[in-house]
Amino acid sequence: GNMSRHDMSNMPMEGMHNGNLLPESALPKNLPLPDLKKLLNTSDKTNYFSATLTAKPVRVQLTPQLETEFWAYNDQIPGPAIEVFEGDTVEILFKNELPQPTTVHWHGLPVPPDQDGNPQDEIAPGASRVYKFTLPEGCAGTYWYHPHGHNTVAEQAFRGLAGVFIVKPKQDPLAHIPVQNWLISDLKLSADGQIAPNSMMDWMNGREGQFVLVNGASHPEITLNQATRARLWNACSGRYLNLSLNDADIYLIGTDGGLLEQPYKLTTLLLTPGERAEILVVPKKSGTQSLQALAYDRGKMGCATEEVTRSLASVNLKASQLPDLPQKLATLPNLGKASAVKTLEYTETMDMGKGMSGMNFLINGKKHDLKRIDLTSKVGEVEEWEIFNNSHMEHNFHLHGTQFTVVSYQLNGQSRLPEYVGHKDTINLKPYERVRIKLVQQHKGLRMYHCHILEHETLGMMGQLNVI
Ligand code: C2O
Ligand code: CU
Ligand code: CU
Repeated sequence: GNMSRHDMSNMPMEGMHNGNLLPESALPKNLPLPDLKKLLNTSDKTNYFSATLTAKPVRVQLTPQLETEFWAYNDQIPGPAIEVFEGDTVEILFKNELPQPTTVHWHGLPVPPDQDGNPQDEIAPGASRVYKFTLPEGCAGTYWYHPHGHNTVAEQAFRGLAGVFIVKPKQDPLAHIPVQNWLISDLKLSADGQIAPNSMMDWMNGREGQFVLVNGASHPEITLNQATRARLWNACSGRYLNLSLNDADIYLIGTDGGLLEQPYKLTTLLLTPGERAEILVVPKKSGTQSLQALAYDRGKMGCATEEVTRSLASVNLKASQLPDLPQKLATLPNLGKASAVKTLEYTETMDMGKGMSGMNFLINGKKHDLKRIDLTSKVGEVEEWEIFNNSHMEHNFHLHGTQFTVVSYQLNGQSRLPEYVGHKDTINLKPYERVRIKLVQQHKGLRMYHCHILEHETLGMMGQLNVI
């Protein structure tokens, strides 16, 4: 029952630190970037997408010598890509062939709560269910799906369960620009080539493996023969990605839930776990550069963990021109004045002497409780939420069911406006930073909000919102 699954001793864990890990040289590099395999639509109706998704253990041959057991959707790592249009009805028959209960959560999508894979709606091993929802107009964007069971999200995700969900607009203002999808995930393998359990440090700081994969491949080769629109996902459990690519101009053109009004020129792109972005990459010089995740200090706790810059892929660039762009990529809705305010505070307490049970990741002083309602919102009411990260470590914040916009950031008594405004469902908070966001919920029912460092979410840094 639920009681025993609250018991931290059930969580897979190795020791304080990483055990013996597979050397980084074990996986082949510089293979061409794999495409994300698509989930096939089995419907013959228009504006209707139907398919079957099965979660189950699968053995993947990573090298001729190495066979690893993953948990996967439809035997694929990453899971099959779902691509639909705004206005489509989506019907997914989901089968759970895992040894644990699970759910499928449609991260960022405005689906009704009873279709959104809440931890209250688990599917038992061997059971199945249908998820069905109609996507509203105006929600075109870069989403994903992953498990959201009770206390199992971290493990199920690090075993391989995640896939992308792309909603295309009926009229794409950037239809003339080629697109690539780059899903970045993290993989931690033990010396025997199997998925390593979380160490105590992983539970505390968020898991980071020795491999960072792009579309499931270790350090692949990406080719950009012209200006390209890239959709990016950070599907890592705990790894922050501070991305950079030399010899190319990078413009942010979209955030989690759709396009920005105007491109915003970037030098680096910080993507924290769960976040997505659309960028326009315009190669300035021909040649090969690496797509890097720059060293980023997010205030991890415990013994000194050195932050290092990593190369995620080698990118073959061909010098290109900036393509023609429309005056305005999108029009963001103006929500108007907020009539309700909510405040959240992240804290953590550590008593390492007590092991896992001494680590508490809290929102407003509380751990997630399946049966407790923490906040209430009204359908259609404009709200401002203030989230305060009262901790010396960075955490991010994700809210289910709707996109929001950032109103302001406040740090060390200084307030600032966001550099750009876009549709967001996940945002980062620096230590002691306060972020104000504005949003409206459109469906009645239960919604989750949490830190998307999956270990923190699993350990209870999550709350429940009831929309009435
Ligand atoms: Cu991506 Cu509550 O999750
Ligand atoms: Cu979500
Ligand atoms: Cu966190």
